[in-house]
Amino acid sequence: MDGKASKSDAPLRDRPLRSRAWFDNPDNIDMTALYLERYLNFGLSQEELQSGRPIIGIAQTGSDLSPCNRHHLELAKRTRDGIREAGGIAIEFPVHPIQETGKRPTAGLDRNLAYLGLVEVLYGYPLDGVVLTIGCDKTTPALLMAAATVNIPAIALSVGPMLNGWYKGERTGSGTIVWKARELLAAGEIDHAGFVKLVASSAPSTGYCNTMGTATTMNSLAEALGMQLPGSAAIPAPYRDRQEIAYRTGLRIVEMVHEDLKPSDILTRDAFLNAIRVNSAIGGSTNAPIHLNALARHVGVELSIDDWQTYGEHVPLLVNLQPAGEYLGEDYYHAGGVPAVVNQLMGQGLIAEDALTANGRTLGANCGGARIEDEAVIRPYDQPLKANAGFRVLRGNLFSSAIMKMSVISAEFRVRYLSNPDDPDAFEGRAIVFDGPEDYHARIDDPALAIDDMCILFMRGAGPVGYPGAAEVVNMRAPDYLIKAGVHALPCIGDGRQSGTSGSPSILNASPEAAVGGGLALLRTGDRVRIDLKRNSANMLVPEEELARRRAELEAAGGYAYPASQTPWQEIQRGLVGQLETGAVLEGAVRYQ
Ligand code: FES
Ligand code: MG
Repeated sequence: MDGKASKSDAPLRDRPLRSRAWFDNPDNIDMTALYLERYLNFGLSQEELQSGRPIIGIAQTGSDLSPCNRHHLELAKRTRDGIREAGGIAIEFPVHPIQETGKRPTAGLDRNLAYLGLVEVLYGYPLDGVVLTIGCDKTTPALLMAAATVNIPAIALSVGPMLNGWYKGERTGSGTIVWKARELLAAGEIDHAGFVKLVASSAPSTGYCNTMGTATTMNSLAEALGMQLPGSAAIPAPYRDRQEIAYRTGLRIVEMVHEDLKPSDILTRDAFLNAIRVNSAIGGSTNAPIHLNALARHVGVELSIDDWQTYGEHVPLLVNLQPAGEYLGEDYYHAGGVPAVVNQLMGQGLIAEDALTANGRTLGANCGGARIEDEAVIRPYDQPLKANAGFRVLRGNLFSSAIMKMSVISAEFRVRYLSNPDDPDAFEGRAIVFDGPEDYHARIDDPALAIDDMCILFMRGAGPVGYPGAAEVVNMRAPDYLIKAGVHALPCIGDGRQSGTSGSPSILNASPEAAVGGGLALLRTGDRVRIDLKRNSANMLVPEEELARRRAELEAAGGYAYPASQTPWQEIQRGLVGQLETGAVLEGAVRYQ
């Protein structure tokens, strides 16, 4: 079959299944009996368990605590139908819940925890393959990372975005509307009740955020990587097509087990470079490099932060979704979703078309005929919304790497900061330094800081160690008095992350973070800072001797101070986690693949 790239011609159904070691092991009758009796007790029969049928896990991320993914509880019924239809046996089990907006101190803390838990389940139980139920921001990378580590056949099933939000005839997108509602509230145009009503309008149904935030980004990239059935990422959660794709995913995972098609066959360097380019074209979240770099490390593929600039920076923005554009998830689906975007990139030779995907065909074969159905929502490559939609990597004495989305630099910003004819690609400003989000909230409107329109706001103490898990707090608003004077955004720099649903000009994911002694720890309010977009540099203009003096002082004080851990996992993760540049993985964990 054209595009069929099955890895081996060996007879498919002859391989011994992993689950036989539990349920049908002639060398260990005692243990087999023990395993059998306990799995029999909820109704499976000995014949089923010893039939040689693949046992397929459904890693369930839906629960009442994770409403974005809750619809997976329904979808799993159709997934089971597909598994059974194809000759498999489904065993569903819960994954540690991660709800992006509800988890304190930050959901970022739980990605590695859910990862660890799922690795133990996939390794330690009689599963031949697994359906990964993905959706809300960190659920997608957590599940893919675990499947990569254990490397048994795995396919992802997205829960799908919510339906479009509407308010007075206009689309309201999750997350994005909060920024706008805050401005309306500050300007006195709505009251608190109106604020809640406006924000709630953006979430009209089950599903994940309907904007191009981290959820839509990571679900799109899971498809671009080849880990989902083609065309499945963008289907809205309540649509009937979503039920159908759940069924087809169940059918397909059983075949994948017979074919022994594993994550390591799909998640190649080519697959990651494809995903980097798709990320630019969709206007993907700045969280994507963190999660994809983490996934690459768990599957053993070389991928660096510089690859994001090399392969992604010059790809234009094609998808017109909020926050960068106008539309929402339903529109994205009707316009053609991920296959239409991939097809546009294929036309430019920007996709490694041979990359194998979960359906056993190549990405090129899957997307070769995918047309754009609505050019207002997905633009043809030669009529993009913006040029150069990827990330630039900056370096200097403030950090060894941080990323910036060049396409969010507004005209207002360009006039204010980048208009010196002798130095058109650089700007200097006075640093205003905040230590963590609490400090920022307490002081941003303090007149004593005398913040003006040439200041640069810094957020430190917000990285994987400082604010365990790394908080989405780098994007900061200007003080009220500047907003009233018409200055909407100041440049922000920090060692934390930024919500995928916000669009401010920030330099973020700075590594190493202040908490582990990165350059940011030496910065002081009032220092001059120079950002040079021609040289890709970001430096504090402070003499070397002064920096050495500050470093000695910092070390004498016992290092950069950050709040104590509140839970055992915070403490454990702080001791093991790496920096955002390299995926913020548990460093010891990447030895196991
Ligand atoms: Fe869960 Fe946005 S908060 S997807
Ligand atoms: Mg987020």
